[in-house]
Amino acid sequence: MATYVIRELAGHVGETVSVQGWMTHFRSSGKIHFLILRDGTGQVQLVIKPQGDVTRIGFDAFEELEQEGALRIVGQVREDRRAPSGVELDAVSIERLSPSPQYPIQPKEHGVDFLMEHRHLWVRSPRQAAILRIRARIIHAIRNFLDDHGFVVADPPILTPAAAEGTTTLFGIDYFGDPAFLSQSGQLYMEALAMALGRVYSFGPTFRAEKSKTRRHLTEFWMVEPEMAFCDFEENLVWQEQLLSYVVQDVLSYARAELQQIERDVSALERVTPPFPRITYDEAVERLKTVDLAVPWGEDLGAPHETALAAMFEKPVFLTHFPKAIKAFYMQPAADRPDVVLAADLLAPEGYGEIIGGSQRIHDLDLLLERLKENNMDPNDYAWYVDLRRYGTVPHSGFGMGLERVVAWICGLDHVRETIPFARTLNRVWP
Ligand code: 4AD
Ligand code: MG
Repeated sequence: MATYVIRELAGHVGETVSVQGWMTHFRSSGKIHFLILRDGTGQVQLVIKPQGDVTRIGFDAFEELEQEGALRIVGQVREDRRAPSGVELDAVSIERLSPSPQYPIQPKEHGVDFLMEHRHLWVRSPRQAAILRIRARIIHAIRNFLDDHGFVVADPPILTPAAAEGTTTLFGIDYFGDPAFLSQSGQLYMEALAMALGRVYSFGPTFRAEKSKTRRHLTEFWMVEPEMAFCDFEENLVWQEQLLSYVVQDVLSYARAELQQIERDVSALERVTPPFPRITYDEAVERLKTVDLAVPWGEDLGAPHETALAAMFEKPVFLTHFPKAIKAFYMQPAADRPDVVLAADLLAPEGYGEIIGGSQRIHDLDLLLERLKENNMDPNDYAWYVDLRRYGTVPHSGFGMGLERVVAWICGLDHVRETIPFARTLNRVWP
């Protein structure tokens, strides 16, 4: 007899088939038992009637069935349009494959600390599984878009000799007696690879020793980092809005069921099409005055500022031309305004804040050396990076998009901890 996964059952109405999975619910009307089985691809209801021929497990043994215990079922597939999978199974036999005594996560409200402590089991819940499926679809869409547009995937190292994004969030390690650090960003290496391959991207884990406990900071997260040779600030923004719009529309098309399952209101997502509005940092400072969130020019914007600015627009909004002093050493100053840099943060709507950070990079050797000095950085630590400006240097740009922040926004979650299978935060490296 053929074995199918639950997702495939709708194609086998009338057949007697075998399925394997885990029991999530069991209830009985006395005369009829109902059992919900899930297998990761979906869930299906089994209908078990005493007069039926349920062989491997007697009717007395049903109390032995446990939440999350593994079962193999043989049953006849019956069409049921009201069922999420479109079918139900009339059980013929139930075989108990493994027990699951006192499963810790019960169908009731649990606190989030308890759930995070049991994350290895929590991922089985339909809502968490749906979020992880959406995450997978987002990754697929990002790769699809970049691969189709001639970007070559190229992986920068994770073990690195120097900081890419400032020394305050570095995780140090002992590299056979020498100091080394977990990568904060692959960008500097992607710049080298863009000079070799033209348009490149990396997609990998990124580490930051973030001492702050917020809804959008992880200490380990995934970033996609495209880098393009012969690309200026303007073109960089176009790539960003094209990529993000593609991803959102792809998820709306191919992960509808999962978005529905987690009850995401998709109307705000449907508006995500290029072009995106842009405002400069100068304009942002003016706009913030009107909502009682005045910041002195030159200061960095915090989460409340980003939320307020994003709320002024229907789509994601680019915030551009930041003061040089609050941004990274490698950013190209604007030609007509040397006190601001050609950098942009992309702010997501609905209070999600920055999801992309990008810039045009300094390509002039002397200017880069000057900026390293101004930032009290040792040029020797960046000798290979400086070298890129010695041999055929050209204008180039790139950006980094934080996967978990994109997932949180697309799923409408209030914390990034649910966007990654096993979140790492200030006070959690377990499980
Ligand atoms: O703005 P960031 O720091 O930019 C860079 O690292 C650049 N070197 C990227 C580049 O140009 N290649 O980080 C980029 C994005 C942020 O916009 C945010 O989405 C995400 O990475 N991010 C985090 N996500 C989760 N937890 C954290 N602690 C994050 N820090 C940054
Ligand atoms: Mg940033």
